[in-house]
Amino acid sequence: MTAAKNRILELRAELDQHNYRYHVLDEPSIPDAEYDRLFNELKALEAANPELITSDSPTQRVGSAALSAFTQVRHEVPMLSLGNAFEETDMREFDRRVTEGLDLPAGDLFGGGATVEYSCEPKLDGLAVSLLYQDGVLVRGATRGDGTTGEDISVNVRTVRNIPLKLHGTGWPATLEVRGEVFMSKAGFERLNATQLEVGGKTFANPRNAAAGSLRQLDSKITANRPLEFCCYGIGQVSADIADTHIGNLQQLKAWGMPISHELKLAQGIAECLDYYRDIGERRNALPYEIDGVVFKVNSIASQRELGFRAREPRWAIAHKFPAMEELTELLDVEFQVGRTGAVTPVARLKPVKVAGVTVANATLHNMDEVARLGLMIGDTVIIRRAGDVIPQVVQVVMERRPENARPVQIPEKCPVCGSHVERTQLIKRSKGRETVSEGAVYRCVGRLACGAQLKQAIIHFVSRRAMDIEGLGEKSVEQLVDEGLVSSPADLYALTFEQIVDLEGFAELSSKNLLGAIEDSKKPGLARFIYALGIPDVGEETAKVLARSLGSLERVQQALPQVLTYLPDVGLEVAHEIHSFFEDAHNQQVIADLLRHGLQIQDQGELAAEFAASTTLGGFLDKLHIPSVGPGGAQKLADKFGSLQAVISADWLDMRQALPEKQANSVREFFALEENRQLAEAAEKQLADFGMHWQSEKKVVEGLPLAGQTWVLTGSLELMSRDVAKDKLESLGAKVAGSVSAKTHCVVAGPGAGSKLTKANELGLKVLDEEAFVVFLKEHGVPV
Ligand code: IVH
Repeated sequence: MTAAKNRILELRAELDQHNYRYHVLDEPSIPDAEYDRLFNELKALEAANPELITSDSPTQRVGSAALSAFTQVRHEVPMLSLGNAFEETDMREFDRRVTEGLDLPAGDLFGGGATVEYSCEPKLDGLAVSLLYQDGVLVRGATRGDGTTGEDISVNVRTVRNIPLKLHGTGWPATLEVRGEVFMSKAGFERLNATQLEVGGKTFANPRNAAAGSLRQLDSKITANRPLEFCCYGIGQVSADIADTHIGNLQQLKAWGMPISHELKLAQGIAECLDYYRDIGERRNALPYEIDGVVFKVNSIASQRELGFRAREPRWAIAHKFPAMEELTELLDVEFQVGRTGAVTPVARLKPVKVAGVTVANATLHNMDEVARLGLMIGDTVIIRRAGDVIPQVVQVVMERRPENARPVQIPEKCPVCGSHVERTQLIKRSKGRETVSEGAVYRCVGRLACGAQLKQAIIHFVSRRAMDIEGLGEKSVEQLVDEGLVSSPADLYALTFEQIVDLEGFAELSSKNLLGAIEDSKKPGLARFIYALGIPDVGEETAKVLARSLGSLERVQQALPQVLTYLPDVGLEVAHEIHSFFEDAHNQQVIADLLRHGLQIQDQGELAAEFAASTTLGGFLDKLHIPSVGPGGAQKLADKFGSLQAVISADWLDMRQALPEKQANSVREFFALEENRQLAEAAEKQLADFGMHWQSEKKVVEGLPLAGQTWVLTGSLELMSRDVAKDKLESLGAKVAGSVSAKTHCVVAGPGAGSKLTKANELGLKVLDEEAFVVFLKEHGVPV
């Protein structure tokens, strides 16, 4: 055997072992990164030695060429379905039939009687699959079909990560058919739908449909990219018996590498089965996958044989169902709600229906694109889904039931609250040097704070804990303040008097004083908090922090041009436009001026951040202009050659050709020949200069910082400042702050409770500072603490 072959076999065995620990035992023994390394090593070795690739290699779960149809497969042992129980009495009746069927003494009103041993397992909501192993190797996978004939989906099942391509250990029957459910976890389903929405693909109504649609793909390469999982719940055709009990069978299968349910339990008698049903029912929402009930099976295989079958159902098993999460109802109307940023959102008014025990009469429809995607009309019969704690959703229209008088859903032209005009938002994209505008999914009322709905929401947001943190002002009180005309902008809060508040419902002397105190106490917000409190559309806490940290002053944030804003981490062109137009709006300017007039003093203002200054290089700037056919490389060449925007704009043809090939050179000249492009670029450059940026200082700024090029890690809890603040301070000195410790880490700041990161830092012999030493260090470097 060659060395390559040896290593390949070794790697496969190791990867199989890790797969087993990960998927079956749930006890991964190596980090994902290490697994990936082994996997890639195997892939590389196989690529170099294709003759050594075998179909059971873990690298072969990638799907094969698309099929034109599935071939049919006959199930030697039919794949049956289960009888259903909905009520406790159905379950007691089932137990009585089992007890009688086995000739065991029945109990009476006072109990007594024999107890039957049952296995209990969740009823996964996916689709039944049969896996055939010959001499321990997976040779065929099939769907249930009508129970007698299914479809051959071998290539598809091979892509499901936790289905063993080869059984572990020894002693398996030469022919072994494993049965179980292929399903999609809740998280996998959410991820898949999010991706499908992004790429404009079909979304799925629920995890079950997603699993079915993914597994029954003629192109198994698609299946390979879907987050499918398998859970084994029994056996079909076998050349030799395995164990005496159902649970014994499953445990043996687990030892051979089959994933089985973590919730598998043994119950003595029906009472314990009912306990199990209740327990799983309570934990249903918290389980990572959807279940529609639990399954009880007589545990003894001999008893199962004695009981046998009735029609297409075993007499020894039953499904005890949970309330359904999907129901049909009628869409009575669609109303429109106005949110904080003016977004006008369609809400479905439904004929009340009980879904999983809760009456549902409303469901959000998100936006008009969603209405269009569903093809929804008023009067339609729709499928409503309420998964766990999730808000009820309309997942599908039952087209066959559309009445003749069904009406289309129309976005109102005027805001239902204030009567202002409703406008469709626009999406701004930049390509080939131009901004192109397309229609967005969201409609907005242009009334801003003149719209009662927006004003109330804006104030609720403004006073919230993570914004201005004004305690004692709940939603009801805000509504009163607005409805009474006492407050028509956030700034008015600072003009409220004791007499005005004390008359409001729910307020007394003390609470009014407390509220006025809280309002007074909120007058010194940090810059990030203040920006967040303004409620700029699309600007959450993170973006607010980025704006504050990078630009350093309210004035700069207010003035920043969209082109300049896109320099900030995670700020795209659309958000940049939102921010810019928010501050351009005269009404918003007035609110900010009023707030300052009422004595608001914004803290933490100062210089432009060094890392922002350093991120604005001329090359990067020219690249951001998106000059057609000029990529980052070309932009850098222009910067190297000309050194300033003006020099690029006024360059003559010969000079330009020295920097770039003809096509690109032409493109640059054409670009700047357009007045509009030139103005935009000049304005942005001028603003960067006003902010204190100079191309000459490129890189030098960060390079000149004391911690430039260093990576620091924060771990444990800090008492004198939050981790975020510590991070900001380090970054202001030019350091990068990373989440994990490696040999490249320069220093670790460890507070109380530090764990594995600190251990690792000590193992690697890295420099470690406690909080006290860290504070001293910061002070030494001129950073206030
Ligand atoms: S046992 C003879 N166990 O429910 C027994 N089925 O109507 C056959 N299912 O199509 C099935 N979880 O796909 C069994 N733990 C479980 C199950 C389960 C889900 C599905 C199965 C079948 C249907 C039965």
